[in-house]
Amino acid sequence: MSDAAQGAAAQPLKPALVREINRALLAWYGASARPLKIRERSDPYGVLVSEVMAQQTQISRVDQLATAFLERFPTLEALAEAETAAVLVAWKGLGYNRRAVALQRAAAVAVAAGGLPSSVEALMALPGIGPYTARAVAAIAFRGREIPVDVNIARILNRLLGSSTPLSPREAQARANEFGSQLADGEAGTWAQAAMDLASTICRPVAPLCDRCPLHQRCASAGQPFHKEPRTATPRTPFAHTRRWLRGRLLDELREAGREGISIAGARGVHNEVAVAATISAMVSEGLAESLGGDRYRLPHRGD
Ligand code: ADE
Repeated sequence: MSDAAQGAAAQPLKPALVREINRALLAWYGASARPLKIRERSDPYGVLVSEVMAQQTQISRVDQLATAFLERFPTLEALAEAETAAVLVAWKGLGYNRRAVALQRAAAVAVAAGGLPSSVEALMALPGIGPYTARAVAAIAFRGREIPVDVNIARILNRLLGSSTPLSPREAQARANEFGSQLADGEAGTWAQAAMDLASTICRPVAPLCDRCPLHQRCASAGQPFHKEPRTATPRTPFAHTRRWLRGRLLDELREAGREGISIAGARGVHNEVAVAATISAMVSEGLAESLGGDRYRLPHRGD
């Protein structure tokens, strides 16, 4: 049995084992990193944009769309000064549009303060930046030492340590920091991106490919029978019946309409006028739309 398997998950791993895991992961990444275009930008602003995009959107889609966004808004200042309408148009295809508004607000706050901060705490104080994104930006762009932990990295840690119950977010961060503490300056960002690639190609949520894993010999869960979560019997609401669909539909109409805006009169799909009115007013309060009076709305613009 490996050292990792012997120790209960609560026990810290021996530093020598942590270093072995770090070396094996970084060597694997050196040979097998996914060729993502977003990795060509290691400046803080470029990293911030791609990490915010990656919060709820698949990395392959982020990789397709981030380049065009960064060409349209090449600097923090360009994003801060842009019309919010233009930012929302450029965000098309990424979904969860509130992130675009928050990202622009974060850019404005950072510009006013003289640029993007490098510490996790100061990054977390920006609108829309949570602990994962703050640590990812600090590690990848500023050589920060803390490893960001999202669900995928948490899964790797849980499996590696053989935790009988999933680690809490606080525990997972503490365990990730054990790995971070044994890395050289500037390696935490590489470690995190290596773990993200491992999580999506090998240490997958369902049917992990343990026999191809660089950490196989040091993982407490290697080759263990894998239990698939049974699917719940509750039938899923069809997407077109959800509020999310309606928000996406209205936002697409607003994008198409430009400065003139749209009338919200009438139903949209299965959603009646009352639901449409309630949704657009939520969108106004979230900074995704503005009222032109009566039943007319448009994306947020400055002035007329
Ligand atoms: N998911 C979030 N950020 C990522 C990155 N930098 N590389 C790969 N997957 C990611």
